[in-house]
Amino acid sequence: MELPPFDPFNENLRLNPYPTYRRYREAGPVHPGRVGQPGRAGETWYVLGYAACVQGLKDPALGRAGLYDHQRAMASEPSVLDSILLIDPPDHTRLRRLVSLAFTPRAVERVMPQLEAMAQEVLENLADRATWDVIGDFAFPFPVTVISALLGVPLGDRGLIRQWSRALTASIDVTQDPETYRRARDANHAFRAYLREMVQARRRQPQDDLLTALVQAQEAGDRLSEEELITMVTLLVVAGHETTVNLIGNGLWALWQHPAGWAQVQREGITDIGVDELLRYDSSVQATSRLALHPWELEGAHIPAGSVVIFLLGAANHDPAVFANPDELNLARMPNRHLAFGGGIHTCLGSALARAEGRVALNALFQQYPQLHLETGIPRWRPGFVFRGLESLRAAT
Ligand code: HEM
Repeated sequence: MELPPFDPFNENLRLNPYPTYRRYREAGPVHPGRVGQPGRAGETWYVLGYAACVQGLKDPALGRAGLYDHQRAMASEPSVLDSILLIDPPDHTRLRRLVSLAFTPRAVERVMPQLEAMAQEVLENLADRATWDVIGDFAFPFPVTVISALLGVPLGDRGLIRQWSRALTASIDVTQDPETYRRARDANHAFRAYLREMVQARRRQPQDDLLTALVQAQEAGDRLSEEELITMVTLLVVAGHETTVNLIGNGLWALWQHPAGWAQVQREGITDIGVDELLRYDSSVQATSRLALHPWELEGAHIPAGSVVIFLLGAANHDPAVFANPDELNLARMPNRHLAFGGGIHTCLGSALARAEGRVALNALFQQYPQLHLETGIPRWRPGFVFRGLESLRAAT
């Protein structure tokens, strides 16, 4: 039976994308589909097979720049659309190297010992409540606390940062609502003004934080302009926030669906291997896209130049050619070469931090609340497709 073009707006995908992925993947690894952003011209192709995703993500015949030109055309100032996430070499190489000078394993290690204290702090605010929302009350505030501490922005401003980050994240997801872009423009403007002041303060008075390290990487190498620096910081917040919220939320929900896994984590805590399985099982970033710079062929599909190619990381992570019993949660799965952090030159820069945050958050939650249980029922997933996460998840202790 001929399958209809792949449609990222199909409501079934939001509820549970994996049966649909399986149907398409069984018919072939690459499919044409519906355009995911309003105003975007050209064809859109979807890649579901693991091997095809790995191959495509590494191929220099595909780029990032130009993917969001329809949105960029409406912008009056730089934004996350101009960040390393969405540009090509040589600019990408230069800017990624610069951020890597500041966002070093050492900088990340410096916050690691504080992660547990930060998780505890968020949980303590919930101590006197019998029921609460794991997403809104814990999974959202924790990563924003971590990134704020890492950067050195005042913890009192976490609410603002969370709000800006949310609006910006929505604008890089698939959407049918042009209002999303207006909200992102406003958030971008306010966020940049806020950061500009912060950067100027660091220049006058350096601190022991990532913001200062970025300012100094700029001054020593004379290579990060002020606007590039601000763009980089907005990216670190956007890339590191909702993704990690969803690792915690989707992870907890996956464990709740697998009582043996839940009981194991309740008893022994979760390891890095377990966190990787949660990342694979219900990936918080379901897709990443590229633009075909030339006519391109993948697994027999002829993709015209200018097409958007969407790599369905969540589908690749359930490809039975690579993962035995892919729809089962196996907290001891090894090897586990999932693509939750993408691939090629844009591979996630924050993966070590993300894994540590996931582990610390889940362990803190189970330690603090050994009797934790979730309210069952049909979970509500947030709108969007690229960033997969729950709207709320009621818990009782
Ligand atoms: C569970 C949490 C996370 C997930 C699932 C995730 C996933 C991803 C994915 C899929 C990409 C794009 C890769 C590609 O297109 O091939 C990416 C890029 C990126 N991520 Fe993450 N991420 C997470 C957390 C973080 C954190 C905590 C940070 C930093 C604070 C971060 C910083 C970045 C940056 C800077 C990029 C752009 C890299 C580039 O384009 O060169 N991410 N991430």
